[in-house]
Amino acid sequence: MKIGFLGAGSVGQTLATKLAANGHDVILGIRTVSPAELAKPRQNAQPLDHWSKTTTARIVTFAEAADHGEIIFNVTPGEHSLAAIAAAGAAPLSGKILIDVANPLDFLRGMPPSLYPALSNTTSVGEQIQAALPGTHVVKAFNTVGAPIMVNPGAISGPHDLFLSGNDAGAKEEVTAFARREFGWSTIHDLGDITGARAQEALLLFWIRIWASSGNPAFNLHIAR
Ligand SMILES: NC(=O)c1ccc[n+]([C@@H]2O[C@H](COP(=O)([O-])OP(=O)(O)OC[C@H]3O[C@@H](n4cnc5c(N)ncnc54)[C@H](OP(=O)(O)O)[C@@H]3O)[C@@H](O)[C@H]2O)c1
Repeated sequence: MKIGFLGAGSVGQTLATKLAANGHDVILGIRTVSPAELAKPRQNAQPLDHWSKTTTARIVTFAEAADHGEIIFNVTPGEHSLAAIAAAGAAPLSGKILIDVANPLDFLRGMPPSLYPALSNTTSVGEQIQAALPGTHVVKAFNTVGAPIMVNPGAISGPHDLFLSGNDAGAKEEVTAFARREFGWSTIHDLGDITGARAQEALLLFWIRIWASSGNPAFNLHIAR
């Protein structure tokens, strides 16, 4: 399968490494492709020129990644996701599934972060991407777990859960099957239409408190009844 990424930070690199190892044709888009950009230090991730030597995944521009992918991941910071989508262009994303992993976390005043007001509470990154891309099936997913857990849920013992939302039932079924097949997820909760992204993104306020108080990001939530 051809898979495109908008973004090449720690989440993009982690997902892309796993999907390329699974045999997919994976490319990642960034703003500008140049030797200096490929060599630049990245927070919690490798410089792309180093990382590229460890994987078959390739680095291109946002527009090329959008054009390439049969399925697209948005793995950019929530406050910049609409800019990345605009750079990719609506046409190459039309008719495709876009899995939105972004969170609108504002770290400008340090820890713990807040959610950007313009992207939360009565709206969300997922909803704003869907509004910008009416011809694309946006599915919010994977944003409530750390990157290593996204691709390896078995690293946490016992049952734990993934959440998704989106307007298109068929797209959500495809993403559910993808998460099971590619990464081994089992319990996946459908939170309804794309307004469910508000709840998924708001969960990060809680997630970061658990991380800060425990010092360990390798955890997840489980809905028990
Ligand atoms: N870290 C986790 O474990 C985790 C878990 C769940 C969800 N998330 C969410 O996943 C997303 C990706 O996280 P990350 O840490 O991998 O991302 P990141 O390193 O902060 O950013 C990744 C990409 O965003 C692009 N970008 C930055 N500023 C931009 C701008 N102004 N316009 C367009 N593109 C811009 C960068 O492009 P260039 O390469 O051109 O600089 C880069 O490729 C975030 O929304 C985060 O909240 C993270």
